[in-house]
Amino acid sequence: MKKILVTGGLGFIGSHTVVALQNAKFDVVIIDNLSNTTIDVLDNITSITGIKPEYHNIDLRNKKDVQQFFETKKVDGIIHFAAYKAVGESVEKPLDYYENNIGSLIYLLQEMNQRGLDNFIFSSSCTVYGQADELPITENAPIKPAESPYGNTKQIGEEIINESCNAYGLNAIALRYFNPIGGHDSVKIGELPLGVPQNLIPFITQTAAGIRKELSVFGDDYPTTDGTAVRDYIHVVDLAKAHIAALQRLINKKNNKNFEYFNVGTGTGSSVLEVITAFEKVSGKKLNYKIVGRRAGDITAAYADTTIANKELQWKTEKSLEEALDSAWKWQLKH
Ligand code: UD1
Repeated sequence: MKKILVTGGLGFIGSHTVVALQNAKFDVVIIDNLSNTTIDVLDNITSITGIKPEYHNIDLRNKKDVQQFFETKKVDGIIHFAAYKAVGESVEKPLDYYENNIGSLIYLLQEMNQRGLDNFIFSSSCTVYGQADELPITENAPIKPAESPYGNTKQIGEEIINESCNAYGLNAIALRYFNPIGGHDSVKIGELPLGVPQNLIPFITQTAAGIRKELSVFGDDYPTTDGTAVRDYIHVVDLAKAHIAALQRLINKKNNKNFEYFNVGTGTGSSVLEVITAFEKVSGKKLNYKIVGRRAGDITAAYADTTIANKELQWKTEKSLEEALDSAWKWQLKH
């Protein structure tokens, strides 16, 4: 059984990936400092798969603790989710973002290099493309200057990994996520935003549940079919499976280059109003919303060309936007 370290394994995407790894018969070790999640997620994963993953509460900014962990653990691969991810907050606290997102990455790569470990999967983001000139967005689209420190940590992160792969012969894959939403069918794990949600889907479900008065739709004057911004919303369970595919590609030495990157999306763009309509259909609830001005930093449209990911990873999404929204709604109702 291959042992895989999952950093941030108790977070939103991390927990779904741990379940997928266990289902694919990997032995999972989780590192998570609980900075944006709670320990019950460990029990909830266990109750889905019947296997309790090994868990360590380690802060990856502590180089000594990271070293100590690897002194006793030999792993066959690392999936690195642990990072801060709030765009607005990153503008207010850039150094926290660079220390956490870049510091942790460097310590992990150093340990891998020094101990001869290999197979690294990195959580990247479609934010690296900014507003792409052509849609759908292929992996060959140019990287645009980052709009936020958060986005910059993803760009710099990819560069650090690429250079480390070149210098030390490590093998790594960056997965550039589009907009991950939804939750596991069991309704035992899902997205747990702290405070007022910044992302669209948790804001929609909280509004429908009466926690928020109304959703503000940020802008209806974009050059899109209905004027609202377009994104590629991917079910987190499909996204989790992309990590298994990427890991297997590295373990089986099927990668074409030391460092590769793939778009992980559905290939379909949906406008904010289309998402609202789909949500109203699956939930049977009328959503209270109003159109307001654009949100600073938002782009018009982003959706993936998934041709390369589908072919190289032998992976594709299976779930619809409606299924994703239905799972997000069921998760909301449970809370
Ligand atoms: C955001 C980040 C992105 C990050 C991702 C992580 C920005 C500019 N981008 O993506 O870098 O990787 O989250 O999940 O913050 N919307 C509303 N009302 C709301 C909330 C959102 O109309 O209350 C709209 C937004 O304007 C956007 C769409 O819904 O058009 C999706 O927004 P969101 O869920 O925040 O994701 P992104 O902005 O695409």
